[in-house]
Amino acid sequence: MASEFSDRDVALHWNQNAETWAANVRAGWDIYRDHYNNPAFLEFVGDLSAMEVLDAGCGEGYNTRIFARRGARMTGVDLSPKMLELARVEERREALGIRYELASYCSMPMLADESFGAAVSTMALMDGPDFPGAMGEIRRVLKRGSDLIFSILHPCFSTKGFAWVRTESGEDRLTVGHYFDDTARVDRWRFNAAPNAAENPDFAIPRFDQTLSFYVNNLIESGFVLRAIHEPRVTEAAVIAHPAFAKWRAHVPLFIYFRATKS
Ligand SMILES: C[S@@+](CC[C@H](N)C(=O)[O-])C[C@H]1O[C@@H](n2cnc3c(N)ncnc32)[C@H](O)[C@@H]1O
Repeated sequence: MASEFSDRDVALHWNQNAETWAANVRAGWDIYRDHYNNPAFLEFVGDLSAMEVLDAGCGEGYNTRIFARRGARMTGVDLSPKMLELARVEERREALGIRYELASYCSMPMLADESFGAAVSTMALMDGPDFPGAMGEIRRVLKRGSDLIFSILHPCFSTKGFAWVRTESGEDRLTVGHYFDDTARVDRWRFNAAPNAAENPDFAIPRFDQTLSFYVNNLIESGFVLRAIHEPRVTEAAVIAHPAFAKWRAHVPLFIYFRATKS
């Protein structure tokens, strides 16, 4: 379905989010990233050391820097000029050898065919209107036999009908709905763990809800062989550190990870 949001609209939204986003993430207020998503995703990704790696939708580079510190030779691509500028300032402050390029992950003409040994993407491929276009372009820049490893919001649970409902016995239960509704929308939320959360404006994030089969079938139709899917569960340690995670641990994964090889 054609989206009512273009890449340009997405970039404008992320430009507005950029400063508050980067400040909060760097201050450690993105607890879902630090205590749940990143530990699980880094384990899923495994060793990328000494490989040329593309980070598709790198944002202000928080995770790109993590991969670089673990030994990967990183190229980060993002379509928000402000996110990318924040990433570049950080690279000038502490050089990790990261190359940043302003582009959509659906069109990266500055990157040569078959020039990467792996591609990663963290929480960015559900934020663009053209997932099949992204798959085709990422496949182009990957060497044959190389992996694309990415995380997205779990499409079965992060739906338009998503809500936590408290039962009479005091238990939080998740409701989902409108799973098949692929109308683009703007999701609004903030990092609630931040001490000044109430003073921050909500992020406005264009979302392009798709079904699980849409992601899997487009990967396969784009010439990837699906190797693994992982649905990370919140750990007991994370629940002890942040009791708000308990309901997630009890019920569902917030994220899903894919590993696919260019055939
Ligand atoms: C939730 S942020 C994640 C950023 C980063 N990967 C991280 O984990 O911190 C999503 C990012 O995807 C970028 N994005 C959305 N659509 C894109 C596209 N078509 N091409 C490149 N970047 C895109 C946004 O600009 C934003 O920086």
